[in-house]
Amino acid sequence: MSDANTPEKHEAGAWARFKALPIDSTPKTLLVAVGLCLFCSMIVSAAAVLLKPIQEINKVLDKKSNILQVAGLYSEGMDIEAGFEKFETRLVDLDTGLFSDAGDAVSYDQRKAAKNPLKSDALENDPAGIKRRAKLAAVYLIRDDAGAIERIILPVHGYGLWSTLYGFVALNADGNEVYGLQFYEHGETPGLGAEVDNPVWRKQWPGKKIYGDDGTVRITVAKGIPSGDAVQHHIDGLAGASITSRGVDNLVRFWMGEQGFKPFLDNLKKGAL
Ligand SMILES: Cc1cc2nc3c(=O)[nH]c(=O)nc-3n(C[C@H](O)[C@H](O)[C@H](O)COP(=O)(O)O)c2cc1C
Repeated sequence: MSDANTPEKHEAGAWARFKALPIDSTPKTLLVAVGLCLFCSMIVSAAAVLLKPIQEINKVLDKKSNILQVAGLYSEGMDIEAGFEKFETRLVDLDTGLFSDAGDAVSYDQRKAAKNPLKSDALENDPAGIKRRAKLAAVYLIRDDAGAIERIILPVHGYGLWSTLYGFVALNADGNEVYGLQFYEHGETPGLGAEVDNPVWRKQWPGKKIYGDDGTVRITVAKGIPSGDAVQHHIDGLAGASITSRGVDNLVRFWMGEQGFKPFLDNLKKGAL
């Protein structure tokens, strides 16, 4: 003989009462809504986890394609990996300006290093607004058939109005004349700060000189019409986006300066590398 009040019987009774409710009752509607939410969140989580490796690969490919673009080696539909083999990727010790063998240049993650106190330095003088600077940077070199450096691609980053802008400056063999500038990531406003990506604005950069005859950083992004010697160092700021323009000015001047790639470029010019 069984007890009519066992938990099993009570549960079965509750389920029977639930099943007997009308289809549009509140408990049944809530159950469907919660079930649907759980199902959808599982699909989204699974997609995020499964797609993460593909996203990482695409991020690396995008960065490589940007390096090819700033170096003038990109064409639509090209094999990015094959094209990227033209570059010699090296690590540079930013303090000494010498090549470093302290890690694998191809897989080096400068952003990660900048967050690690052992691999970066806090900046007291921080015009680019980056707080910490990694000790090492990966640079990309193109050499001619005789082995002489033809082009130097340097990573740069710094704060604009809303975001940190990440990009590359390409220099010609003299380590002074700009070949191009390109950002591959930022969060500035479309039509305003994001005009840093506009090819018309970017067209101003090739041929401009980073350093003056005395070796000081002279490149400037600013409003106004320069005269005389300043013309070869001047980039017109973006209309309606002075803050992003100032950010680009600050970051380029920082990375081309003593705390950035100047020691490395000086060594290149002296033939010390
Ligand atoms: C919604 C919104 C988004 C803006 N985005 C940017 C931006 O991305 N970069 C920028 O420099 N200024 C941006 N501005 C404008 C700045 O607030 C500021 O007015 C401008 O930089 C001044 O530039 P100007 O001296 O050339 O006029 C934005 C303004 C608004 C209202």
